[in-house]
Amino acid sequence: MLSETEKNYLLETVETLQREIVVISPSFEVMAANRYAKDKFGQDMVGQSCYEVFFRRSGPCNECPMMHVLQTDKPQEKTSGHFDFEEDEKNVTYYPIQSGDCPECMVRLDFDPPKMGRLEKKLQLSNAFLHNLIMSSVDAVIAADKTGKILIFNDAAAKILGYSREEALNSLDIRDIYPGDTAHEIMGKLRSDECGEPGKLAAYRVELLAKDQERIPISLNASIIYENSHEVATIGFFHDLRETIKMEKELEQTRVQLFQSAKMAALGKLAAGVAHQINNPLGGISLFAQLLLEEHELNEEAREDVQRILDDSQRCRDTVRELLEFARQSSYKAKPEDLNQAISRTLFLLEKHAIFQNITIRKAFDDHLPYVPCDLQQLSHVFMNIILNAAEAMEGEGTLTVSTSQVGEDWVRIVISDTGHGIAEDVLPSIFDPFFTTKEEGKGTGLGLSVAYRIVENHGGLLTAYNNPDAGSSFCIELPITPSGEGEGDEDE
Ligand SMILES: Nc1ncnc2c1ncn2[C@@H]1O[C@H](COP(=O)(O)OP(=O)(O)OP(=O)(O)O)[C@@H](O)[C@H]1O
Ligand SMILES: [Mg+2]
Repeated sequence: MLSETEKNYLLETVETLQREIVVISPSFEVMAANRYAKDKFGQDMVGQSCYEVFFRRSGPCNECPMMHVLQTDKPQEKTSGHFDFEEDEKNVTYYPIQSGDCPECMVRLDFDPPKMGRLEKKLQLSNAFLHNLIMSSVDAVIAADKTGKILIFNDAAAKILGYSREEALNSLDIRDIYPGDTAHEIMGKLRSDECGEPGKLAAYRVELLAKDQERIPISLNASIIYENSHEVATIGFFHDLRETIKMEKELEQTRVQLFQSAKMAALGKLAAGVAHQINNPLGGISLFAQLLLEEHELNEEAREDVQRILDDSQRCRDTVRELLEFARQSSYKAKPEDLNQAISRTLFLLEKHAIFQNITIRKAFDDHLPYVPCDLQQLSHVFMNIILNAAEAMEGEGTLTVSTSQVGEDWVRIVISDTGHGIAEDVLPSIFDPFFTTKEEGKGTGLGLSVAYRIVENHGGLLTAYNNPDAGSSFCIELPITPSGEGEGDEDE
């Protein structure tokens, strides 16, 4: 039995305890409550029904813990926090107070869930959130521990590299996705201050090796994860650069083409002006030299000198004619032509030339090449110029390959390749410029390619040149199958 003093102390303890202690009768009536509970639920709670006090209901709850305790005679634990007025999440225990064999009443006692448990739950929630965040990131994310084992591999990484998440997590090593020694190089850069703060790497362009061994260019942001200043893992965020690089290349090509077109247009005007200015005095020089020869009794030496004047002025006329050809704009008569046949005819004419004696000619023609609207005479001039250049570059020995093909629905492509000395990188940007030549003085005018460029451009097409990976160079002519509209018309010269 408890002494009075003991009872008083216990009572005082219950009263001062910072927990809710409420006694409830089997008829749902609050029979007693400590100070803490009264402060929370109202000083007048004793005598009221529990469902009204705790849950603001007009009748017993559907899942009444009291009924459960009365029926089972066992304590029951409930987690509260799902009612609006219960701000804190807490556990509430209901347990019976026996009177003989029957429970006389029930005690409702609240207590906090264990602190660690709460933290764990919060941690779980936050981990799940981070996991979702990483998995749904547009950027690919890969993390690996110090041994190279993959710890994180999100969906975007799986899409770029072609490995499934399971494959990556179970059997992939971080070194497998970097070609050669790249993984090692990246670690070196991460640890140094070469690319910014040590431990971090920003917008670093590198290649990854996909499952099918394709090399994928990426932009990588990576960092080392430290724990107590020890490296424990690395994490990389990256995105695929294939589209960006393709766009950059197209943009650069467009820029070069625009530049080339603008340059050609300006030079064309200048050339036309100069050619017309030179043509008249040149006519005078030829005419009067001719008169000198015909109307005067000249000695042999003088005749030879005048003949020299005539020959040189003829060369000047040829150059002027080429210049006028170069300057000519929108001046061709287009009709659908079979380009395979046109190239064959040009080759047939050239084959007999001494320079082609030791040159093997290979034709790789598309037999179903559609007809192309063009001025055949002008295009033959283009083929002739390019093929002669090729023969000259091969110095009379090698293989000339001419191929034709259809590109997409709207274009045909003619590629003329040689196995010659190729074009020096510093010369390449200038070869289409009028008067640009690497031949010795008097051997070439340097107008051949500029005229060819102009003709192809007037047909709405494009002429480009590049060095072959093995030997020699190639010239690529692309022409539209449907008339461009531009350039079709009457001769204006
Ligand atoms: N197939 C080729 N291989 C290597 N270099 C070439 C080739 N075709 C052209 N070139 C370079 O481009 C320059 C310009 O060519 P272009 O046809 O305009 O003039 P050219 O051949 O020098 O003179 P011309 O055509 O008046 O005889 C050449 O001098 C040469 O350096
Ligand atoms: Mg030439």
